[in-house]
Amino acid sequence: MVLLRGVDEHGFRFFTNFDSAKGRDLAERPRAALVFHWPEQGRQVRVTGDVTRLDEHESLEYWRNRPRASQVSAWASRQSAPIADRAALEAAASDLETRFGDEPVPLPPFWGGYLVTPDAVEFWQHRDDRLHDRLRYQRAGVGWTRERLQP
Ligand SMILES: Cc1cc2nc3c(=O)[nH]c(=O)nc-3n(C[C@H](O)[C@H](O)[C@H](O)COP(=O)(O)O)c2cc1C
Repeated sequence: MVLLRGVDEHGFRFFTNFDSAKGRDLAERPRAALVFHWPEQGRQVRVTGDVTRLDEHESLEYWRNRPRASQVSAWASRQSAPIADRAALEAAASDLETRFGDEPVPLPPFWGGYLVTPDAVEFWQHRDDRLHDRLRYQRAGVGWTRERLQP
């Protein structure tokens, strides 16, 4: 799970560590599928698309609004790599706090945002009789096609 940090006409944005398992996967094959689920409403939205890194300027804009502790933690964590114990992680964070002192914490070169540009979006609506609604939009040139799928 990652937090959706922006959605507009260009696509869906999230932020993470580029060297994490998912970051390495994306470097190898820049495609992603997203799923949003609202159980109370019986709704699901699925998105597939190409993934690109946000430019540094955009990542920096988001980074600057993060709490300082989160910034230090991002520096301290080699996300998805094993570590001996919690104490080692806390020691790394504490060293970094000393290193940064009262200065603003810079954007790590290994951290930032991705944009998922959708080429298909499917809206699913639960129905008690299980004849659920599924509407799939697929990008076609400048517009979108829409079709109903069987549940
Ligand atoms: C509610 C929730 C929100 C999360 N948001 C993020 C996020 O925005 N970015 C991120 O890198 N990891 C986030 N995580 C942690 C990821 O689920 C995951 O553990 C981490 O990114 C490492 O994944 P990977 O090893 O597959 O790369 C979140 C976890 C939860 C439970």
